Amino acid sequence: MCLIYIFGALAVTSGVFSQDTTTLLPEIRDLFVAVGSSVKIPCTDGEEKGVEWRFNSSVLVSSPVLSIQNTSLKDQGIYTCHQPNGDLIQTVSLHLGYPPSPPDVHCWSPSYPKRAICSWTLTPDPVLPTHYIATYRSISDPLSSARQCQKWREQDRQCALEELEIFASGPTLINITAINALGSTTRIWPIILEQIVKPDPPVNVSVMVMPGRKLSVQWGPPPTWPDPVNFLLKYTVKFHWGKPETARTLGPYESNKMVLSGLMAGRTYYIQISAKDFLDDGQSSDWSAPISATVPVN
Ligand SMILES: *[C@@H]1O[C@H](CO)[C@@H](O)[C@H](O)[C@H]1NC(C)=O
Ligand SMILES: *[C@@H]1O[C@H](CO)[C@@H](O)[C@H](O)[C@H]1NC(C)=O
Ligand SMILES: *[C@@H]1O[C@H](CO)[C@@H](O)[C@H](O)[C@H]1NC(C)=O
Ligand SMILES: *[C@@H]1O[C@H](CO)[C@@H](O)[C@H](O)[C@H]1NC(C)=O
Repeated sequence: MCLIYIFGALAVTSGVFSQDTTTLLPEIRDLFVAVGSSVKIPCTDGEEKGVEWRFNSSVLVSSPVLSIQNTSLKDQGIYTCHQPNGDLIQTVSLHLGYPPSPPDVHCWSPSYPKRAICSWTLTPDPVLPTHYIATYRSISDPLSSARQCQKWREQDRQCALEELEIFASGPTLINITAINALGSTTRIWPIILEQIVKPDPPVNVSVMVMPGRKLSVQWGPPPTWPDPVNFLLKYTVKFHWGKPETARTLGPYESNKMVLSGLMAGRTYYIQISAKDFLDDGQSSDWSAPISATVPVN
């Protein structure tokens, strides 16, 4: 058995996490260290002559104490300590990274009022395995307990909030807590459902040539919008020929079709549609992918 201690790192940055203070051979001991901190790993209790540390199998230092100043990502790897005769004393797997920083959160509701989605990023990337606990509760209902924000589309940093209250008198607070071997951090982020509405783009855009240099344009509501009958959408149509910057927009339209007229024979037009909540809550969707159609010459 071999007593391990870590030196200095706690004072230098946000610390070092060690899963075990004692290890039975020949286990590999995982050691998590913050980038930029210093670490000292003694091999044995006493002062032994001829003991050496190796890094990824090549000899690193002939000393019972391994000391690394100002660690960087390239110090990651397997460190082994050996007796003068070469016998293995212990193995340390050094993992470098950062304690989690408070997540930057972005929430939107493509499925108003059924569901909102939040996603988040951490800067710098913690590098080390990091897991997240995401919960939410309504501020206007202080008795309500926090609900789990369920992982969305298998993404680690994305979750779905269900059954939010519409036109609530106060925000819903989402609590995103990030945890790894070097620490944890929490971000509390307020959400007002009506402010984060953002439909997905309309689908199935089709264009039909009509007599008299006209194009008939049709589309379908975004399939992620759960109830287009009770929660109406309105649409904006954008079209251009030549440079995209010269695009003109028309609308809003409440129906799923419109006719472009006054077009030039022989010209190819590119058409895109976006959707917005009928009551103007939140943002417009992104534009659908452009569909082109050429007005016939005769
Ligand atoms: C630690 O290393 C980094 C990058 O290698 C360097 O920018 C920094 O100045 C070093 N810090 C100290 C205290 O030596
Ligand atoms: C040491 O080994 C680790 C893990 O196999 C590897 O990621 C790292 O690049 C190696 N470093 C050097 C300097 O060989
Ligand atoms: C946020 O969530 C974490 C993890 O569940 C919990 O420990 C913490 O108390 C919560 N903070 C607030 C302000 O609700
Ligand atoms: C879009 O087209 C697909 C295939 O033609 C069809 O199954 C779907 O119902 C359409 N969706 C809408 C919203 O019109």
